[in-house]
Amino acid sequence: MRKKLIDISWEDFQALPINDKVPYLSQADGIPYHTLFAQQFDLELLERLGTLANSIRMIAKARSGMDFLQQLISHKRAMLYFSQPSSRTFLSFYSACQILGMPIGEVRDPAISSEFKGESREDSVRTFSSYFDLIIMRSPQKGLAEHMSWVLSNTDRPIPVINAGSGHDQHPTQALLDIYTLQRSFERVGGLRDRTVVMVGDLARGRTVRSLSQLLTNYPNIRQIFVAPPVFQIGEDIQKILTAKGVDFELTSDFHSVLPESDAVYMTRIQDEWDDETHQSRTVDTSGFKFGLRELDMIKPQTVILHPLPRRDEIAREVDRDPRAMYWRQMRNGMWIRSALIALTFGCENRILEFYRANV
Ligand code: CP
Repeated sequence: MRKKLIDISWEDFQALPINDKVPYLSQADGIPYHTLFAQQFDLELLERLGTLANSIRMIAKARSGMDFLQQLISHKRAMLYFSQPSSRTFLSFYSACQILGMPIGEVRDPAISSEFKGESREDSVRTFSSYFDLIIMRSPQKGLAEHMSWVLSNTDRPIPVINAGSGHDQHPTQALLDIYTLQRSFERVGGLRDRTVVMVGDLARGRTVRSLSQLLTNYPNIRQIFVAPPVFQIGEDIQKILTAKGVDFELTSDFHSVLPESDAVYMTRIQDEWDDETHQSRTVDTSGFKFGLRELDMIKPQTVILHPLPRRDEIAREVDRDPRAMYWRQMRNGMWIRSALIALTFGCENRILEFYRANV
């Protein structure tokens, strides 16, 4: 039987392991209602989302296709509540809503909402839910989207919440677009299986790698290599999950030694906004965790280079011109996979696939 957030207290729900939370976040058919964690997506769902994103992408090439897409959810409104800086996630969700015809509202700075007058986050989000049908939320606070999902599900106007980045914990829709980019990169050469994925940089505080690592466990025989200075290495919680799932993984700080065997190199920025009083970003030598022309010569001809962006100097600008540099395409893929996620959430999958089969 389907579990509902209305049937469980916040304290009991919060205390559950993530995998036990998933049934509470799903619609009757197993599709996410609230999208909060990478753990909500299994292989079947990831393939479904990829197919839907491909269909939307192809349909959107024609004006008649855009006209079709834009009437799909034009009767619903989306709220973008971003209390942490963002360019790509904000704009790609914004564009995704536009593609599907959803009118959009936004709050990007709580200081210009009534939170400034002392209104609680709960009341603020409940206020948004009075006017909108979907809340897409980015917050520096781990677990806020989860709490708001529970709060809204316990009102008389429950609406879906999508986590667009929560603290340094999870960024599930970034991981969806990363997976979609990998699916597309390998679709003509055997698919996303039997690959070595190398993740580099600030893995301790970068939420994208934490979510991507989880999603990769759905694919057969994916070796995960985490490359970072020891202080920025991937968390023990992720290592425990990978061990429990029998995933082949390795931790190293020797970037060059693993480049020749990589099929995908996922670079990340040092997240100095999370520095504590020891200012790790200034005291740790990160010069060995950058990708330039020398590193290009060390990877295979088919290896792809990804980055969630924004970047600083961890990928040299000269690398952008190489056909293996996928990060600009990866960024655009975010618009398609987020369109697919919203379409799936609002039950539009079959209509899109039927239109695709009949018209594209
Ligand atoms: N990758 C990513 O989340 O980028 P933004 O912070 O610009 O949204």
